[in-house]
Amino acid sequence: MTDETDPNTVEHKDSEESEYCVALTVNGQLYHLTLDPRTSLLDLLREHIRLTGTKKGCDHGQCGACTILVGGRRITSCLTLAVMHDGDDIITIEGLGSPDALHPLQAAFIERDAFQCGYCTPGQICSAVGMLSEARAGWPSHATADVGTEHVELTPSEIRERMSGNICRCAAYPNIVAAIRDVSEGPHNEIV
Ligand code: FES
Ligand code: FES
Repeated sequence: MTDETDPNTVEHKDSEESEYCVALTVNGQLYHLTLDPRTSLLDLLREHIRLTGTKKGCDHGQCGACTILVGGRRITSCLTLAVMHDGDDIITIEGLGSPDALHPLQAAFIERDAFQCGYCTPGQICSAVGMLSEARAGWPSHATADVGTEHVELTPSEIRERMSGNICRCAAYPNIVAAIRDVSEGPHNEIV
């Protein structure tokens, strides 16, 4: 049932016979939703709770525009069903910074002019947040020469490889790499 006094309780009634209840936290806000079990996590974000910062590019897991963070790990939200995320803690681009207090990666993307149309940018930034924590944890990539190393140096080729799941049709790649490199080498690396 919808609690009309709670704006974070949203009900979707297209197919009442096969609805599922899900409770999940998005950007620190708890949502209770009743959904068609076929709803993707991307559609939950965009269509049900109206957080449209996360973009739908291909809807097939190929462009990275829909990248978000679930439990601190980056995933493509178009490839996962919302009902699989009951109880999960989700961060979208709206949860990373605000116009008055930009996330260090958001500031770096502006500083480096790392976008043109901007459609891929939320996914690029969420992906970069996840990627920086993966590198800090010592996870190797296909570009890592010594996979046994505990310290991964984020060279441009490492960044390109680790961000290769995020397509930019405006081809802002050199500036995206520069922005991520600035943050990875700067004082903010430990907090992103
Ligand atoms: Fe999800 Fe393209 S919209 S990867
Ligand atoms: Fe246009 Fe990347 S800035 S798709």
